Amino acid sequence: MHFTLLHQATSSTEALIVPIAQKTDLDAILALVTEKTGVPTDLIKNDFKAASKEVHTLYFTENKQNKRIFLLGLGESPRSIDVLNVFRSFVFKRKANLPANLGLNFLFKNAPDNPAPWVEAAVNGLALGLYDIGLYKTDKKQEGNTEFHFEVLVDEAQKATATEAMHLGETFAQTHSQVFDLVNAPANKKTPQVLADWAKQSGKRHGYKVEVFDEKKIHELGLHALIAVNRGSERPPAFIVMEYKPKGKSLRTIGLVGKGVTFDTGGLSIKPSTNMHYMKSDMGGAAAVLGTLEMAAKLQLPLHVVGVIPATENSVDSLSTKPGDVIGSYLGKTIEVIDTDAEGRLILADGLAYAVKHYQPDVLIDLATLTGSCIRTLGTYAGGLFSNNDELVGKLNDSADRTGERLWRLPLWDDYKKELKSDVADLKNFSGSPSAGAITAAKFLEEFIEKHPAWAHLDIAGVAVSDSEFASQKSATGFGIRLLIDYMKGLIAETAA
Ligand code: BES
Ligand code: MN
Ligand code: ZN
Repeated sequence: MHFTLLHQATSSTEALIVPIAQKTDLDAILALVTEKTGVPTDLIKNDFKAASKEVHTLYFTENKQNKRIFLLGLGESPRSIDVLNVFRSFVFKRKANLPANLGLNFLFKNAPDNPAPWVEAAVNGLALGLYDIGLYKTDKKQEGNTEFHFEVLVDEAQKATATEAMHLGETFAQTHSQVFDLVNAPANKKTPQVLADWAKQSGKRHGYKVEVFDEKKIHELGLHALIAVNRGSERPPAFIVMEYKPKGKSLRTIGLVGKGVTFDTGGLSIKPSTNMHYMKSDMGGAAAVLGTLEMAAKLQLPLHVVGVIPATENSVDSLSTKPGDVIGSYLGKTIEVIDTDAEGRLILADGLAYAVKHYQPDVLIDLATLTGSCIRTLGTYAGGLFSNNDELVGKLNDSADRTGERLWRLPLWDDYKKELKSDVADLKNFSGSPSAGAITAAKFLEEFIEKHPAWAHLDIAGVAVSDSEFASQKSATGFGIRLLIDYMKGLIAETAA
């Protein structure tokens, strides 16, 4: 799929897509449609209400060529994420019989005065519409066109901003597709080493540094909590450290830590088999960090961004860590492992402590598919947000609203801390109580940030994969990448102002 920016459709444009939100001046837009097609505006208005994902097709002939107009409903006051999803859905459902040359029309008074955010979202959505989840299918039936050319049509005056938006939409989609592949991949194709290789390749391609600590180095460093989780696995752990540095001056250092559990059986505290297959996506936090580092590098953000990913399987073996075992950690604190299924907080403890000690980031954010409790609390509509810094919360919430990657804050009051008291060690990894599990998990992590003043923990268990029209099972969303890039862009704008 490729995109060109133009100011009017060409003779090779076979179909025009006209996105339309409800409550816009439908008459003005449809007058132009009527002019092209000869279909009376009243008739079109009767049949097309611009509801989200509604598509109405009209046909006409121009210079002896048969052409189409797709009126594409965006629903009421669409946010960027809505625009993205409408376009993704449009291509996903229709790719088998779409013509190869399409115009994306923002000339029909149908877009906001500054169409750039819509251009970005639309291009992003169109590109993701071709994402193919069937990575391991042997029978790759290709119906219709596989190469599409989109002319993005905007006013002359908007050329510069729209061109930038178009590239942004494309580049986000490229990174997202690769992150989707990672998150959707099954555990037998996705070992900790595969995550490490992904990071290495991305670093090489986009010009940032990636260091991978192997099992030996992990032992030397004393990442004891990661080692404890890895004990039951045939596959060695990997500790991935990614570092993007801008060529010029860096405004801040942002530390990102992602949970990279490539499969979570629960360990000896084994999970029930129903839905266990979804635990191949227990590296959704790692995926968000990988994607964000890649995007930060591609966009050449003037920030120093560090990504830390402890990666391992959580498996069952005679050598597995057992419930009741006491383990060490990178920070030195001892942990009584009450439940081996609370493994994410263990490896994150080492990741967080490592990031703080070696990089002293100004802001520290971790992302993890951490608790079922968070899913029971917020469902699949928002990630849990925990933070010791109100300003950071404000900014992350703003980014969440802008990107549609929703967050909702939950408390970190010290009352919850006593649930993690252990008789035999410095703390235990699970209270044993079924209540407030997402909060006690966050309180556990807080013990390893060395009182960092600007830390946020995002529990993305409910949002890293989701049900959608794009697959029959839950599949990757790429949650976190748009959110974090928006947050970082906000920081940059604030420092520049
Ligand atoms: N990876 C899971 C959390 C999870 C559950 C993510 C469902 C996505 C969907 C995590 O490691 C886990 O097992 N958490 C336990 C913690 C408990 C044992 C304290 C949980 O939430 O049940
Ligand atoms: Mn678990
Ligand atoms: Zn897990």
